[in-house]
Amino acid sequence: MTFTSALSGASPDTAKHILDSIEAQFQLSQDDLITITKQFLDDFRLGLSEYNHPMAMIPTFVTGVPDGSETGTFLALDLGGTNLRVCEVHLLGDGEFTLKQQKYRVSEALKTGEASALFADSVDAFLTEHASSPTTAPPDPFAVSSRSIDLLDPHAGSALPLGLTFSFPVEQTALDKGTILTWTKGFAAKNAVGHDVVQLLQDAFDRKHLHVRCVALVNDTVGTLLTRAYTAGGCVLGSIFGTGTNGAYVEKVENLTKLGDSAVRQEGGVMVVNCEWGAFNNTRTVLPTTPFDNKVDRESINPRLQAFEKFISGMYLGEITRNILLSLLDAAPTPLLLNGRASDVLNRHYGLDTAVLSEIEEVWESGRTHFTEVEKLSAEDRSRLERIRSIIIQRLSVDAEFVTLRDAAIFRWAASLVASRAAKLSACAVATVLVQTEHAKLGGGHVPEQEKLTVGVDGSLIEHYPNFNARLRESLRALVGEEVEKRVDIGMAKDGSGVGAALCALMATK
Ligand code: BGC
Repeated sequence: MTFTSALSGASPDTAKHILDSIEAQFQLSQDDLITITKQFLDDFRLGLSEYNHPMAMIPTFVTGVPDGSETGTFLALDLGGTNLRVCEVHLLGDGEFTLKQQKYRVSEALKTGEASALFADSVDAFLTEHASSPTTAPPDPFAVSSRSIDLLDPHAGSALPLGLTFSFPVEQTALDKGTILTWTKGFAAKNAVGHDVVQLLQDAFDRKHLHVRCVALVNDTVGTLLTRAYTAGGCVLGSIFGTGTNGAYVEKVENLTKLGDSAVRQEGGVMVVNCEWGAFNNTRTVLPTTPFDNKVDRESINPRLQAFEKFISGMYLGEITRNILLSLLDAAPTPLLLNGRASDVLNRHYGLDTAVLSEIEEVWESGRTHFTEVEKLSAEDRSRLERIRSIIIQRLSVDAEFVTLRDAAIFRWAASLVASRAAKLSACAVATVLVQTEHAKLGGGHVPEQEKLTVGVDGSLIEHYPNFNARLRESLRALVGEEVEKRVDIGMAKDGSGVGAALCALMATK
């Protein structure tokens, strides 16, 4: 029975069958994961050899990673998704840094209005932070910019260098130049795509007569890679599992054949590549798409783009789950959830935040709760379901009268289906980088020379979602073997966007 026919004409007897058929669509076998990773490797190689592929494999012109000895004071602006951050970073050497930052939520109006307004607002946020309290020297004597500077005074010496972290696909042509390829994560500001992002920001600074020069442009994954390298002494991969998803790794320049015989290619060595893996398999030939995913895609701001991201990232997991829940709620003639009563929140596009799934799984993150067995559960398990029930009532404003423990179990089941699949698919991306960099073989059987394979990560999913990391590791083990998996040291690169921008600004000013 197909999913659609199962839902129409559902009787209580077919309920189990319907849930089982949904569950089956979210399962990924080891063979599936291997097939996906093979395709990933092919697409990596294609993106390294030619321009204009969805997974863009962008050369970043960052030709090395820091070792922790770097020092200096830099300003950073981080525009990446939910928040805009204005940071002042002091690199202290010895892998240490201090960072002051202020966060501003980016409004929907700015995300979809004129790009000039978005950048002007970013500069205003920056001004609020720095014009009143001039940037000061850090306590260390080695700082590159160890001075206090009035940003509004054109006679105050050379302009203060700033690194921009811009977490969207940008085709870079130099460390401080790059054309915006497309928006992602719900952004759609006008007159930005096709323009140089550094220039857009610099123009906004210049219009305010600010004595600041944007010297480096960096993706958040690159920032994460550089930051983890700075604090841990090396790093194989920097990746983000948050509102969006992506990864950056160190590639041999000789493999970047699309650079032709340009000077930078002839120099050889290594270069950090920003994969833009969120756009992997936009054609969905290997991604395990379901009707719930198709609905997310169709109703998104960028249909048919960022396919992989729409299976993985925090922006979409809540929405996929909401689609599953609504299909159960709408099942006819017998609703299978909440007695057929949604709430305004549940009815709203993106109304179910991934953070709510996280809260639900926090209560009961392991073990299978089949909906049919609720009546037979122990007192302890029932009290967990009571807690989930309260979350549903409070966070989704559902009328308490219509929320049963069975509903609570179904919410938890749906959240865990969607999040587990996301973690498994994330493992494919990580495995691809390990194989591409010859630290692993697909299917296992290769022991790396290095003791540790350091991976820097950041983002709300990997940081907060219960079990995301463990689920990812389990699939990674299946893909590259236990020998390699246990050497992979996945660690948070906190503040990677700000510190990474500072490290790039340092490279640029050297
Ligand atoms: C963007 C990437 C970014 C990732 C994580 C994606 O939507 O395309 O550039 O690195 O989100 O923030």
